[in-house]
Amino acid sequence: MTRRVYLDHNASTPVHPEVLAEMLPYFSEVFGNPSSVHAFGRAARDGMDTARERIGRFLSVSPEAIVFTSGGTESDNFAVKGIALARDRGHLITSRIEHHAVLRTCQALEGQGFEATYVPVDEYGMVDPEDVRRALRPHTILITIMHANSEVGTIQPIEAIGRIARERGIPLHVDAVQTFGKIEIDVERLGIAALSFSGHKIYGPKGVAGLYLRKGTKMVAVQHGGEHERRRRAGTENVPGIVGLGKAVEIRARDMRAETERLTALRDRLVEGVRARVPEVRLNGHPTQRLPGTNNLAFRHVESESIVLGLDLKGIGVSAGSACTAGHVEPSHVLVAMGVPLDWAMGAVRFSLGRSTTAEDIDYVIGCIEPLLAKLRQAMPVGAV
Ligand SMILES: Cc1ncc(COP(=O)(O)O)c(C=O)c1O
Repeated sequence: MTRRVYLDHNASTPVHPEVLAEMLPYFSEVFGNPSSVHAFGRAARDGMDTARERIGRFLSVSPEAIVFTSGGTESDNFAVKGIALARDRGHLITSRIEHHAVLRTCQALEGQGFEATYVPVDEYGMVDPEDVRRALRPHTILITIMHANSEVGTIQPIEAIGRIARERGIPLHVDAVQTFGKIEIDVERLGIAALSFSGHKIYGPKGVAGLYLRKGTKMVAVQHGGEHERRRRAGTENVPGIVGLGKAVEIRARDMRAETERLTALRDRLVEGVRARVPEVRLNGHPTQRLPGTNNLAFRHVESESIVLGLDLKGIGVSAGSACTAGHVEPSHVLVAMGVPLDWAMGAVRFSLGRSTTAEDIDYVIGCIEPLLAKLRQAMPVGAV
């Protein structure tokens, strides 16, 4: 049987068995509507309250500051639109490497009369806080910069950006979908007014997420309806999902440090192993200021899709750094913003490690990459991509 090695944890993670066990009763026995006053409803609300408390404790914030949503995408939309639309007009600052949930939301707001500046990044995918300062205008109403990039893993200098935001009294939203539960986040020290996070990146369920909102942050609801979530986000809550998210966070709080050390070592083992055996490979992203389990490797003059498919045949799951848009392959907006040359960017592959990853897995992957790349490069004339 082919070995199966999943190295796409930045895309999604399997639900932790302890998370699943905690969720199960909320699909059947504890099914009440958490807004109902009777015992059935109260039991569901208790489960939700526990989750809110666990997340509040993890972030050292009040549980009431957490709003549950349907995903990181909704959290980003809610934060950016909610803060912008609480003002009539204004100027937003974001970066060129944000997730599309932020980028396209900013673009949509531009279509509604708001202005936006998309600050550049350096060759490592890092935002310069001074660029954020230079982008400030008298009517800047929001700064939204991600904590770590999902494709290359570079961790942004949020504390310095937070200081700038604080000096000017401008709310800072941080998309922490890729860092929440993976690295330390101190929202107070970092100067964060709103923080997006998502369940399925941390061994919780899909379709459930949250937004931390600092008390006093001026914003409006984006989804209207009932009185749920203190009137900040209407709709009957996904109780089993929220319970699972809370449990996933509790587990991350317990395991995060040890896991960071282990994954950093495995991450570096992969880069060193590939570099030692495969010519013309480069690491995209910051050499050290990078997520513990994320490696974006570019193989020059090879199409990333061919590598992804070749590794898939060996039971290895990774993702490409390019996307097929309307029938033609385009490099990722992140790599373009970093100035990665096209002949490298088209061969970018992301390896994202997680809980189940072992040193044997990494060695197996390295062993598969070497002959695959040799074969692909033989089949493809140099400079063909
Ligand atoms: C940085 C970042 N923001 C937002 C999202 C969207 O999260 P969700 O899949 O929960 O909608 C992702 C998912 O990949 C992400 O990596």
